[in-house]
Amino acid sequence: MKNIKPDHIAIIMDGNGRWACGQKRIRRYGHEQGALTAKNIVKIVSSNKIKHLTLYAFSSENWGRPTQEVKLLMKLFVETLENEIDELNSNNVKMRFIGDRENLSKKLQDKMQNAEKITIDNTGLNLYVALAYGARWDILNAIKGVITGVKEGKLDKQEIDENILSSYLQLGDAPDPDLLIRTGGEKRISNFLLWNIAYTELFFCDCLWPEFNEKEFSNALNFYSKRKRRFGSSV
Ligand code: IPE
Ligand code: IPE
Ligand code: MG
Repeated sequence: MKNIKPDHIAIIMDGNGRWACGQKRIRRYGHEQGALTAKNIVKIVSSNKIKHLTLYAFSSENWGRPTQEVKLLMKLFVETLENEIDELNSNNVKMRFIGDRENLSKKLQDKMQNAEKITIDNTGLNLYVALAYGARWDILNAIKGVITGVKEGKLDKQEIDENILSSYLQLGDAPDPDLLIRTGGEKRISNFLLWNIAYTELFFCDCLWPEFNEKEFSNALNFYSKRKRRFGSSV
């Protein structure tokens, strides 16, 4: 049977820097255009009635970039949130952030918390933004949560199974992604959602994130519709 459409799409938004370089501009311009692309894709995904979208905005490893670039990305996250939250809210989008917030500025943490708070009762698209996210951190954090649960007597050691561990992950209450899109030409996962993508269909495209558009998105959906998902079975 053909897959009609994915319920959950995850995107590794890669290629901002190379795109800017190709335009003879500085990386900052690539990140700014990348933010506009993200805004556009949220609209397209929403209008396709897809229920869950996870966007990889900043990885644990991205902390290792030059200080100036990290600073400008953080500033861009604050500004984008400030500018977009009202429209997202009025479009019924429910926003959640996944990742290790500890090293983010207080200002950004407050904006994130506020966005989550004001959109909590929305019933449209579930938008998860992975910020300072790494899948190894996510799994480790979930294991720590399980250990605490056992220590506090809320969990029985004998009952710990895949479902219980999953529920402690950052996307614990979301279904696993059906489709993962990575732009920018690299065919790797870069520490994104390792646990959750065990059976996800993978779509890699060469187009750089700032140029990703409705046409590219429909190519990805078309690719997905042709996959036969077996989940290990023989039929
Ligand atoms: C993705 O674009 C954005 C982030 C990782 C924050 P890049 O900045 O990685 O752009 P390239 O891959 O260097 O072109
Ligand atoms: C992956 O892109 C992370 C995000 C898009 C946020 P990177 O540019 O950091 O990945 P690598 O370094 O090419 O693996
Ligand atoms: Mg990159």
